[in-house]
Amino acid sequence: MQPEHGVTVALEPASPGVIAVTDLAPSGAGPHAETLGLVGESAALRDLCSRIAAHAKSSATVLIRGETGSGKELVARAIHRLSPRVSRAFVPHNFASIPDTLVESELFGHARGAFTGAHADRPGLFEVADGGTLFLDEIGDASASVQSRLLRVIQEGEVRRLGDGRTRRVDVRIVAATHRDLAAESRAGRFRADLFYRLHVLALDVPPLRHRREDIPALAAHVLERLARRDGLVIRGLRPEALERLRAHDWPGNVRELEAALTRAAYLADPGGIIAAHDLGADLGGAGPLLVRERHATLRGRTLAYEAELIRTALDAHRGNRSRAARALGLTRQGLWKKMRRLGVCGSADPAD
Ligand SMILES: Nc1ncnc2c1ncn2[C@@H]1O[C@H](COP(=O)(O)OP(=O)(O)OP(=O)(O)O)[C@@H](O)[C@H]1O
Ligand SMILES: [Mg+2]
Repeated sequence: MQPEHGVTVALEPASPGVIAVTDLAPSGAGPHAETLGLVGESAALRDLCSRIAAHAKSSATVLIRGETGSGKELVARAIHRLSPRVSRAFVPHNFASIPDTLVESELFGHARGAFTGAHADRPGLFEVADGGTLFLDEIGDASASVQSRLLRVIQEGEVRRLGDGRTRRVDVRIVAATHRDLAAESRAGRFRADLFYRLHVLALDVPPLRHRREDIPALAAHVLERLARRDGLVIRGLRPEALERLRAHDWPGNVRELEAALTRAAYLADPGGIIAAHDLGADLGGAGPLLVRERHATLRGRTLAYEAELIRTALDAHRGNRSRAARALGLTRQGLWKKMRRLGVCGSADPAD
């Protein structure tokens, strides 16, 4: 394997008592990794993949349901990839990350002068996705007014930009996702029932990771290989107890939490590149809730939160000793101190430090 940085990635056999990364998934990343980007070969994942293939053929709206971090966006992309629309755009929109006031102009577009700041005509994402797929992520967060406009566009196949009388025909396949129980939300009057039925023509449930634990080793190998390729961080293997902990954990943050836990462990692992059980931290879920909480923040915000979390974990692992934590993170002691100040991480005073 030849990473971008020119570092040779050595995923060769590890020492006795260590499970080599290459042995985690002896039969590879599973039959759907290449075509769909979905790693794993549990019965639940296979079933999901065959449903994706079946649903990809039609243009009907799909509602993807699943817990946070379970892979809903990957599934949406896989549907598009297998669909006849593959040569056209896949356009994602996340309701949770854009303020309500901007959503309508973002989705439906606006005419010049439609509101203060609308200096030019602008097409909305429905027009951008014409011929392709529009991914409406966190649809459960759409406001009542956006829900009613969406319903109209879906029913009529036409959009009207804000402040513009003209209607424009669009041919858009909608794939929506939510971690909420939309049926319950609509019974409670928080989501329009008529829109729910329009979205729910086809449905896909992404199973939580704890219901397909067989996928954990292949996913772990996938994450570690990517770390090696992308960051030049070479992990050769895991102690069996570490793998056992990965298998036993309940993963409330699903695959994203697994990625975070392994990334953190990889940075904490000994210089020989072997992940031990204690590198996974006392509470495996440590990074999960943070990432879950931060998941709608900007990329920069999330990266900074993640950096802060890695630093806290390294400090904990070395009982607050900054020199050792810095070494484990590949930083100088001063570099670590600067980052701690910038990120607002307070290290406990360590007399030995
Ligand atoms: N089967 C899988 N194979 C490989 N990577 C996966 C798989 N499932 C999820 N991932 C990875 O896990 C992370 C979370 O996936 P994704 O963003 O699709 O989840 P989500 O359900 O949309 O999460 P959220 O509810 O937080 O938006 C991503 O980095 C994704 O690449
Ligand atoms: Mg998502």
